Amino acid sequence: MKTEPFSFMINSPGFIPSYFDNHIKRHLSDMKGQFNNKEAFQEVLEAGDKLLYEVYELKRPEIEGEILHGISIVHPGKIGEEYYMTKGHFHTVLETAEIYYTLQGEGMMVMETPEGDWAVEELKTGGVLYVPPRWAHRSINVHSDQDLVMFFAYPGNAGHDYGTIETQGFRKLVLSKSGKPQIVDNPHWKPPEK
Ligand code: 6PG
Ligand code: NI
Repeated sequence: MKTEPFSFMINSPGFIPSYFDNHIKRHLSDMKGQFNNKEAFQEVLEAGDKLLYEVYELKRPEIEGEILHGISIVHPGKIGEEYYMTKGHFHTVLETAEIYYTLQGEGMMVMETPEGDWAVEELKTGGVLYVPPRWAHRSINVHSDQDLVMFFAYPGNAGHDYGTIETQGFRKLVLSKSGKPQIVDNPHWKPPEK
């Protein structure tokens, strides 16, 4: 981790940062229980543990005042009618926001508060999304063959709470209906306990 001021490049077409500290690869098997169509998940998994998305992290001390940042690349594909997506998470410190800048692609960001309020924002090249504090977030690639590439930045002390989403899911899903993304209710969503 660098202590002096530093710069790095994000060059197309690959968008892999010229300097990064950590490279995360999420495969289909890492997403067990996350996709709506369990049969389709099993069928695709048996054909091979596909790489769904990658994250290139610029690590910083996980303290207030620092800003963690990096590149997330969601590859194109579908599991049943559902598009390739990230796990999704709340920040452990709920009162922490996040900014996403879409460098390439077409997607949707599904978001939700602990109270169950929901929002879905379109992601497209050149677009900036502000995810306010308290909103869990999952990015979804709705393009048929192009990577969804985003630069993200969030507070160093945020942390990641995946457990809540793994348990209750997101209230909304984005499914491909006649080739177009459609927002639908998640039949498996478990409302937050009061
Ligand atoms: C974060 C960011 C972002 C996110 C990736 C992968 O808080 O770190 O939201 O970097 O981690 O988009 O998504 P998952 O963390 O949900 O797998
Ligand atoms: Ni986040």
